[in-house]
Amino acid sequence: MTAAGQVAVVTGGAAGIGVAIAERLAKDGFKVAILDVVEGAAEQAAKSIENAGGVARGYRADVSDREQVNAALEAARSDLGPLAAVVANAAIAPQQPFLDMTLDQWNRTLAINLTGTFNVVQSALPDLVDAGWGRIVLISSSSAQRGAPKMAHYAASKGGQMALTKALAVEFAKTGVTVNTVAPSSIDTPSVQKKRATGAMPSAEDMAKFIPVGRMGTGEDIAAAVAYLVSDQASYVTGQTVSVNGGSFIG
Ligand SMILES: NC(=O)c1ccc[n+]([C@@H]2O[C@H](COP(=O)([O-])OP(=O)(O)OC[C@H]3O[C@@H](n4cnc5c(N)ncnc54)[C@H](O)[C@@H]3O)[C@@H](O)[C@H]2O)c1
Repeated sequence: MTAAGQVAVVTGGAAGIGVAIAERLAKDGFKVAILDVVEGAAEQAAKSIENAGGVARGYRADVSDREQVNAALEAARSDLGPLAAVVANAAIAPQQPFLDMTLDQWNRTLAINLTGTFNVVQSALPDLVDAGWGRIVLISSSSAQRGAPKMAHYAASKGGQMALTKALAVEFAKTGVTVNTVAPSSIDTPSVQKKRATGAMPSAEDMAKFIPVGRMGTGEDIAAAVAYLVSDQASYVTGQTVSVNGGSFIG
């Protein structure tokens, strides 16, 4: 089995880092199935990949809803073929002081970021195991490595993804399926730009002062790490966290 021509699922693939990953995997020869909760957005992102010469389909699904995930992946199998790679990227990143955090806010963040990852990975994994080749990449966050004020729910969900990565890597190590996580930090996506516009985050220039390489990251920076992890070359890399953060938080 080789990566080229196989089907890669990218959740949250209609915006930001997710769309950069979907575009990169399409360029690398994957047929890409994009899942996103925003009505019509996954289909639109897929269309723009097809216009650029790639193969892609978009499906509306809320990753926290198992039935929607199962239905979207079933449609992807029927449109594109058996699934071979899964990139669990969909997430929300709300900010809330811990003492004001409601149980509903906590549960919603865990339901999308962590249980959503469980839903997509468990629903797709049988295809990978049956083929004897597969790649799973979870997009976690530096907030699980160093903490993040007002984001306890988010950081906990991202730490859960890191633990899930290790557990699945060893459980499936003999099947030809690798499981890794990419931990981004300070990536200049539209959702981050929105937070900056409301003053919830510092300006890109101010953020860059605290990043050793002197700039914020891009979706393409994350997509490049994912492209390696889903490639044939990465068959001996499993259970790892690849931190893509411009040199921040080393150690
Ligand atoms: N941008 C950063 O600096 C940064 C830093 C660390 C980690 N991350 C992680 O990278 C990933 C992408 O971040 P981003 O900045 O591109 O986010 P974003 O908010 O720009 O995009 C997230 C995408 O996920 C989709 N989505 C949200 N909830 C969903 C759901 N329930 N079901 C399906 N799709 C859903 C959104 O519609 C959107 O298209 C996330 O996992 C995030 O936690 C980002």
